[in-house]
Amino acid sequence: MVLEIKIYGEESLRIKSEEVKEIDSEIIEILNNMVETMEEIKGVGLAAPQIGINKRMFVLNIGDGIIRKVINPKIEYSKETVECEEGCLSIPGIYRNVKRAETVKVEYTNEKNEKIVEEATELLARAFQHENDHLDGVLFTDKVSPVAKRLIRKKLQAMTKKVKG
Ligand code: CO
Repeated sequence: MVLEIKIYGEESLRIKSEEVKEIDSEIIEILNNMVETMEEIKGVGLAAPQIGINKRMFVLNIGDGIIRKVINPKIEYSKETVECEEGCLSIPGIYRNVKRAETVKVEYTNEKNEKIVEEATELLARAFQHENDHLDGVLFTDKVSPVAKRLIRKKLQAMTKKVKG
């Protein structure tokens, strides 16, 4: 089932999400629907708060042939940073540079309840960080430069107004 994506201004995007306590059939179904939704709109990643569910999980498809279903991630960030352009399915039409850790070490549980540890670089590292931020109610537009923030402020206000009415 393809789900509706929450847009900037929606409450669920700003809430700190809760740990998944048990990977039951409901969680599996949500993850499957998230993958279907991500593929429909050709996204690289989709986090549960973006479909209005404040649980600590997201799905990733960076085009390396692996569809990751990530539950309760814990991230260690490298000190080295790198800047790259980002967008977000919840913030349509806005693309800006964001400075992030160059590499990350991520520990998470997958949908089969297996513990996974991954060292990630480049697009995968960026996607892990972007999606993990969603679980804390943080959006990439919070992390852009002050100048970029000023430039996108009006667009974000318009999105919020549309959502809140
Ligand atoms: Co996003």
